[in-house]
Amino acid sequence: MQITLEKLNKNFGSVAAVRDVSLSFASGDLVALLGPSGCGKTTILNLISGILPVSSGRILFDGKDVTDLSPDKRGVGLVFQNYALYPHMTVLENISFPLMVKKVPKKERRRIAEEYAELVSVKDLLKRRPGELSGGQQQRVAIARALSKGPSILLLDEPLSNLDARLRIEMREEIRRVQRDTGITSIFVTHDQEEAASISDKVALLKFGETQQYASPRELYDNPANLFTAGFIGTPTINALNGRLHGSTFHVGSSQIRLPFAAPSAEDRDVVLAFRPEAIRAAAQEVSCSATVDEVYPMGKDNLLHMEMDGGKFRMFSTEDEVVEVGQTLPLRFKDKGVFLFDAETGVRYA
Ligand SMILES: Nc1ncnc2c1ncn2[C@@H]1O[C@H](COP(=O)(O)OP(=O)(O)OP(=O)(O)O)[C@@H](O)[C@H]1O
Ligand SMILES: [Mg+2]
Repeated sequence: MQITLEKLNKNFGSVAAVRDVSLSFASGDLVALLGPSGCGKTTILNLISGILPVSSGRILFDGKDVTDLSPDKRGVGLVFQNYALYPHMTVLENISFPLMVKKVPKKERRRIAEEYAELVSVKDLLKRRPGELSGGQQQRVAIARALSKGPSILLLDEPLSNLDARLRIEMREEIRRVQRDTGITSIFVTHDQEEAASISDKVALLKFGETQQYASPRELYDNPANLFTAGFIGTPTINALNGRLHGSTFHVGSSQIRLPFAAPSAEDRDVVLAFRPEAIRAAAQEVSCSATVDEVYPMGKDNLLHMEMDGGKFRMFSTEDEVVEVGQTLPLRFKDKGVFLFDAETGVRYA
């Protein structure tokens, strides 16, 4: 099922929770809605499922306008953060509950429920009650229950945030597998950029109810449209220096940085120079700038370096065969990728 949101708005009194959001989710894709707390992720899911009415705009499923259709007619399955299983029912009863509501005969109910229990690997737990399951198992049951009624769309609202770090990684891969196996168009809400990037076909990044960028995880990382996206995606966070651009030279404090690309215009301009920590290396030739090593943090194979120059600080990496010491001044060179300029005022990408 293809989902289209057209100029969607949702106001709660004076709060504009969703502003002019236009997005299209391709059939069979898993898309992440990503953004900081309060940016409107849950509200968008509630508009798609029909739990909340829109303030303005349209929602289309496969081109058909469902904006005013009641939730039970939309064919949407929901999975929430807190599992919301029925505590007095067994796993089997929980998974088959939506089928009972749909008056599916008992034998058929059991067959379908077992099929989905198998899909999410809880087939051995059918007789247990939710209280006798781990968090990860409960979330698997919640997913099986959402799928058992045969929805055309699956919406997952931070389904992994109650799980510990290791289980989160395991479960997100599990969700991806189940989503691929069923081919169901799915929207996954999270505020964890790594989680979003690791399992999604595309990511819609939101801020204050507005879409910042909608693209593949790779595209968001390699080609951020604005400073917010550049800063939200990637660990360690992208480096950002506020300064002034003269031709192809960036000035910050008394430091000068030669950019690896030509300036888009000859005019001087206030910009933010942003670069990924891996986009700059120690190098003897074609030097872009130099900076002093402030701290060295061993991180497995590489070292993470905190660097300082007059006017700014940033992070970069050194490899195990480079000898670096605190206080040393290093000549540095940019790589071709991962270096961006943003307008200092608007944050919009400049180069
Ligand atoms: N029922 C409501 N009444 C009033 N304001 C609301 C209501 N629901 C949400 N809001 C507001 O709308 C905005 C978006 O909320 P929403 O729950 O969609 O954010 P979110 O991105 O899901 O955040 P989180 O990551 O914390 O779950 C917030 O400013 C929130 O306070
Ligand atoms: Mg939310």
